[in-house]
Amino acid sequence: MLLLKLKHNNGIPLYNQITDQIKEMIERDVIKPGYKLPSTRTLADRLGVNRSTVYEAYQELWALGYIESRPGSYSFVRKRQELATGNTRKTKSIIPWNKQVSPASENIYRTLHLIRSEYTAESVPPNVINLSPLTMDKRLLPVEDFRKCMNKVLRESGTKVLDYGESNGYGKLRTYIANRLQLHSISVTADEVLITNGSQQGIDLILRLLTEPGSKIAVESPTYSLIIPLLKYFKLDVVSIPMLADGLDIDYLEKVLRKEKISLIYTIPNFQNPTGVTTDQVHRERLLGICEKHRVPIVEDGFEEEMKYFGNAVLPIKSMDKGGVVIYIGTFSKVLSPGIRIGWIAADKDCIERLAAIKRYSDLTSNAVVQGAIYEYCSRGYYDLHIKRMHRIFARRMKTAIKALRKYMPAGKVSWVEPAGGYLIWLKLENHKLDTLKLNKAGLRNGVLVSPGPYFFTGNKRGHEYFRICISTLNEEEIERGIRNLVKTIIQLEKS
Ligand SMILES: Cc1ncc(COP(=O)(O)O)c(C=O)c1O
Repeated sequence: MLLLKLKHNNGIPLYNQITDQIKEMIERDVIKPGYKLPSTRTLADRLGVNRSTVYEAYQELWALGYIESRPGSYSFVRKRQELATGNTRKTKSIIPWNKQVSPASENIYRTLHLIRSEYTAESVPPNVINLSPLTMDKRLLPVEDFRKCMNKVLRESGTKVLDYGESNGYGKLRTYIANRLQLHSISVTADEVLITNGSQQGIDLILRLLTEPGSKIAVESPTYSLIIPLLKYFKLDVVSIPMLADGLDIDYLEKVLRKEKISLIYTIPNFQNPTGVTTDQVHRERLLGICEKHRVPIVEDGFEEEMKYFGNAVLPIKSMDKGGVVIYIGTFSKVLSPGIRIGWIAADKDCIERLAAIKRYSDLTSNAVVQGAIYEYCSRGYYDLHIKRMHRIFARRMKTAIKALRKYMPAGKVSWVEPAGGYLIWLKLENHKLDTLKLNKAGLRNGVLVSPGPYFFTGNKRGHEYFRICISTLNEEEIERGIRNLVKTIIQLEKS
């Protein structure tokens, strides 16, 4: 006999009380699988409740898998799978993920793990000046202005931006970006712009669009370190084009293009990551010329286009692109905020539409609330003001870094290239016996971290004599202290 005790007026609906008590009896094995529950009418009469209350409780028990009922018959207790809880869950999955995943994804996982096991921004002790990460100085993020824009968007266009957005990105923002690109003499319409989740997604989409396993692609060596594992993931055949003092080696590239079928060329013409090199107009014209001749798409990564604060601006390659050869990538990450995860691709409409189709099936749309807020932020003029402020601050910070290198670095130990903007300085240890992979172990003791050269090289060159420093998160005092600590570390390494 099923003994249930119901409390009226205790705030818990009666059907809930019935459900919970039967559930508990089943879980405690008081009633076992196969046990026949009383009919809804019988139980309702016994408990003095409405029949529909019992019916609702049985429905709930059925939905949770505790009972089964056959049409026109009674309900029976069934053997239900135990819930997976903290206590019942196995400590290790029965799926051997490391073996079951694709080899390419295992490879990318191991690469990330290897880097993580070194130093992440979070694991760096507070006394260490971290000259490694290329992210923004938290003290400069325009939190308050952005909050106002978020509020306005939600207040005035809440129902629009909380819905799935337009698949190519928020229309007004695309128009704004197309107009802003005009300032850099790039002529595109809003239809030729695709909003992405950061420029990293832009790169991923372009690789998916233009390559298949085994495709040959040309990249500068050294290059942006976070695309290297991706190239492996896509099983691409990477042709490394050496970086010279004035940009990628065009003669070398030309020879490659004469011999090989190349699917695309990835280049960073401004403040190249990691070398800081900015190519000149002639270099850009030559590069475009040979790519036009060989009909090879150029992926121009303009990640820091807005961060030119010394000297005259050189126009992007895309500004001369009459034939629709250049796929330009931009981002708000390196001047406004990396956390908003908004970038864009500007390219020929046929290309954009194909990229948009891939994006559509991978993430449906980008975050419309944030795109709305960015549009608001830009159209109020905040973005222009913010860029001006960033230029003022980073022109000073970069001068401080160069001055400190000149002042503290003993002659002949290290050489470097002075960038025309951005945040990066690429340095070379003149003593070839030193290995920059060993720099951070000693650096950590002296309160400094850098990015070792080998992180950035593709192909056979190891680049162990190079390293990159980045000033994007540090103020002038920190930059100077970091460089003093770096000098101390290099001198110590030489002696050891
Ligand atoms: C050269 C370059 N391209 C693209 C990116 C990706 O940036 P995001 O996805 O934040 O726009 C970075 C990030 O550091 C970068 O250095």
